[in-house]
Amino acid sequence: MFCDTEKRQYRKQGFFIVDDAVDPDMLKSLLEAAIRAKKKVRSGDVDLYTHRSEDGEPWAIRGLFAPEMNEPIFAEYLMSDPIMKYTRAFLGTQLQLGGALIFTNPYQADYGFGWHRDFGSKERDGSYQVEMEILHRPQRGLRWHLALVDDYCLQIVPGSHKRYRTAHERRCLLEERHDNIPGQYAVPLKAGQTVFWTGNLIHRGVMKKDVERLTLSGSWSMYSKNGKPGETDPRLKWMLADNVRGFLPKEMRPLYDRWRVLQEG
Ligand SMILES: [Fe+2]
Repeated sequence: MFCDTEKRQYRKQGFFIVDDAVDPDMLKSLLEAAIRAKKKVRSGDVDLYTHRSEDGEPWAIRGLFAPEMNEPIFAEYLMSDPIMKYTRAFLGTQLQLGGALIFTNPYQADYGFGWHRDFGSKERDGSYQVEMEILHRPQRGLRWHLALVDDYCLQIVPGSHKRYRTAHERRCLLEERHDNIPGQYAVPLKAGQTVFWTGNLIHRGVMKKDVERLTLSGSWSMYSKNGKPGETDPRLKWMLADNVRGFLPKEMRPLYDRWRVLQEG
């Protein structure tokens, strides 16, 4: 079956790398669009939601589906056949809108956020039982990084997505967030390669000011048919604006609606 080996690796190690998750014809256009998007944000022309370093420089750029960004290719890419093939293999055919953002290097100083798991508002220093319950919840989303230029910035601890942290990892997650962790692995992505990975892995991004990083991160979610509306993630509030839906490809709009109806804002 398609993707069986990758699924096994994902379950065991928490990630896998492939060459065929982007249409080669789209790659160049995505790179050009990402360069333009970075320029627009750095110049201050566009700022829907931007993560900035202490110096105020962007290291993660959101708002890629917004008309103000005026780069429709990002939404087209999310709907593209290669992405849908992998997404359906993991999540099935009933989807709701995920997201996309660009990870990029600041120019003034190296930047890194330090070790973490993508737990959002969930417990970050839980007991064994609490943490294992979170780590073993059924998968409801799929996310990935597509490198538009070579990218070695993402470091992970393979296999850490299913197990309780060690004492040293706890120190790295909560205190000394830039220390090395035995077994850490810098994911080696050549331009055009995609890593699918789970944010339950212990991970960090390590960006160098003089090494260009232009990596497109994307995600899809499983449709929550009986989901209860909740407060919108502040990083996604720009997606509530009236002009976003009409800027999306037609076939994406119903998937946007499934997300929209779950937002209280
Ligand atoms: Fe993260």
